[in-house]
Amino acid sequence: MEENSTKKVILSGIQPSGILTIGHLAGALKNWVALQDSFSCLYMIANMHAITVRQNAADLRRRTLETAALFLAAGVDPEKSVLFIQSQVPEHAQLTWVLNTFAGYGELGKMTQFKDKSAKNAENINCGLFTYPVLMASDILLYQADAVPVGEDQKQHLELTRNLAQRFNYYYSDTFKIPEPYIPKIGSRIMSLQDPTSKMSKSDENQNSLIYLNDSNEEIINKIKRAVTDSNAEVRFDEANKPGVSNLMTLYHLATGISFEDIEKEFAGHGYGDFKLSVGKAVADWIAPLRERYNEIIKDKKRLESILIYGAEEAHKIARKTLDKVYKKVGFVRF
Ligand code: TRP
Repeated sequence: MEENSTKKVILSGIQPSGILTIGHLAGALKNWVALQDSFSCLYMIANMHAITVRQNAADLRRRTLETAALFLAAGVDPEKSVLFIQSQVPEHAQLTWVLNTFAGYGELGKMTQFKDKSAKNAENINCGLFTYPVLMASDILLYQADAVPVGEDQKQHLELTRNLAQRFNYYYSDTFKIPEPYIPKIGSRIMSLQDPTSKMSKSDENQNSLIYLNDSNEEIINKIKRAVTDSNAEVRFDEANKPGVSNLMTLYHLATGISFEDIEKEFAGHGYGDFKLSVGKAVADWIAPLRERYNEIIKDKKRLESILIYGAEEAHKIARKTLDKVYKKVGFVRF
């Protein structure tokens, strides 16, 4: 990233809690790549967030590298953007401690994601899960980010980030930039192939509901063949009444650039069999080059490591400046 650049700063992150899906590509990575030329971008693998749910250490280590490789394969360019692993920049944990003293117990208890995750993991409602949004606020505020690309499910955390920043700025003096959510122009929310009314999620137990970014062409085509649609054989975009077909149309549009209107024309009078096969092939063609790049990148561990070490150093330089200000303002002794 250029020093002293006047470009606005963008920060975003994804947890390495599983292989990324086509949903990440459509909803996040595609945008991240497009933003690289106009903004100073920082893209982070949120491995500290991932341990709020129990992880196997070897799996987490492997997935962290796989996630980084997928970012690169999707087009994140380490010469334009800062690509780093959260735990390699100690300022994230350090700022989290300070911001914890600005976050209210009641406020954190009200977070939708905390409530959902506590209900799902009743046997492990740990304090990390509770302060998860404060760590996320630190990720963002350390870099004085102007905008944060997030999905709908993270908007509440961004609102909390803004509140914490304002509270701190008000109590001491201006320290943090107040970040805005960045909502992409074309919302590309990819839904589960088996239950098209819920979002495609990498933690879904039904493997047929997701397309992983490293699935083979055959797997992609087969999963799309089995996708849930509806009983009136008509290819028409209507998310409320035809969620399955609309989801497949979105995938076809993303893969080929063909408009919904033209897709409807193309498949008028055809059955779903033809339609699904075309979608499957188009998606496979879209993903194949990414998968090939991914396989190259993941093979060369040394190169991947050196990209991540460089990214962490760059991130650390920026984060340190903010943390120094914070430590000074709160009255931590410096010698
Ligand atoms: N919590 C986000 C998610 O699960 C990931 C994340 C961590 C993030 N830190 C961030 C996203 C900072 C944006 C900015 O999707």
